[in-house]
Amino acid sequence: MAKTSGSRFHLGQALCIVTGASRGFGRAVAREMSQLMKPRSVIVLVARTEDDLRSLQKELAESEEGRAGLVAKCVVADLGQTEGVESVVGVSKESFSDDMDHIILVNNAASLGDVSRYAISFTNMAEVDAYLSFNVSSSLCLTASILQAFPQRAGLRRTVINISSLCALQPFSSWVLYCTGKAARDMIFRVLAEEEPDLRVLNYSPGPLDTDMYMVARTRSADPGVRKSFSDMIDQGQVLTCEKSCKKLMKLLLDDKYTSGDHIDIYDV
Ligand SMILES: NC(=O)c1ccc[n+]([C@@H]2O[C@H](COP(=O)([O-])OP(=O)(O)OC[C@H]3O[C@@H](n4cnc5c(N)ncnc54)[C@H](OP(=O)(O)O)[C@@H]3O)[C@@H](O)[C@H]2O)c1
Repeated sequence: MAKTSGSRFHLGQALCIVTGASRGFGRAVAREMSQLMKPRSVIVLVARTEDDLRSLQKELAESEEGRAGLVAKCVVADLGQTEGVESVVGVSKESFSDDMDHIILVNNAASLGDVSRYAISFTNMAEVDAYLSFNVSSSLCLTASILQAFPQRAGLRRTVINISSLCALQPFSSWVLYCTGKAARDMIFRVLAEEEPDLRVLNYSPGPLDTDMYMVARTRSADPGVRKSFSDMIDQGQVLTCEKSCKKLMKLLLDDKYTSGDHIDIYDV
C-alpha cells in the first residue's frame, strides 16, 4: 500500500466490531481488518449464522495474525431484535482492555427487503417497521451504545463506519425499503459527525459486489429495467469482488484524510 503523508500502516491495538461478518462484504472486512490491527487486538464478528461465523473465527485464529495474538470472538445475534444489539455491546465491553487505543465499529449488516414489489404495495406498517428496525434502528442503537460504553478519552481513537450504497442518494424503482433505509442510515452518521467532533465517521459506498445480496437484486427486483441493469453489469465485468472494494475502504481508513461524516463511493477513491 502506497504511503501518503499522515498515513498509517496499521489501525492500532484495536477493538473492532463487524456486523454481518458471516458472508459477503462483512466477511471480507473482518479478514482485512484483522491484518491491519496490532497483536492483542480483538475482532467481534456478528451475524445470525453461527457455522459461518465459527469458520471465520477458526480461519482468523489460524492466520499469521491469530498466531501473533489477534483474538476473534463470535456473537450470534439477530440485530433486528433489542437483545441482539445488547449482546454485541456486552461482548464488546468484555473484550476491551485498557491498552487498546482504537475502537472501530463497522455497521455492515443490512438486508435488501422485498424488492419484488413496488412502493404502493407497502400498506402493512408491521412489515415496514420490521425492515427499519433491523436496517436503521439497530444501527443507531448499536452505535450509540458502543459510544456510550467507550466514551471519549485521551489516547483512544473512535471510528464508526456505515456501509452505505448509491441507494442512499438515488431512488431505484421497486427498492423503496432499501433506498429509505440506506438514506436514513447515512443521515444518522452525518448527524453523529456533527455532534461528536472527536469521532471519525465514514459512510462508505462499496460499489456493486459479487454477493448473495447482488444475486437477489438481479433476479427478484420487480422493475425489469433494474433487473436488466444488474445483469448487464455482470456481463460487462463491472461487478467487484468484496476483497477489491474492501482494500479501498482500508486505504481510506489508513490514510485517515476523509472529512468525518462524508459519503465516499468506491469510485471516488
Ligand atoms: N452487494 C452489493 O452489491 C452492495 C452494494 C452496495 C452496498 N452494499 C451494502 O454492503 C453491505 C453488505 O452487503 P452484502 O452484499 O455483503 O450482503 P449479504 O451478502 O446479504 O450479507 C449480509 C450480511 O448481513 C447479515 N445479516 C442479515 N440480516 C441480519 C440480522 N437480522 N441480524 C444480523 N445480521 C444480519 C448476514 O448474516 P446472517 O444471514 O448470517 O445473519 C450477512 O452476514 C450491506 O450494508 C449492503 O447494503 C452491498
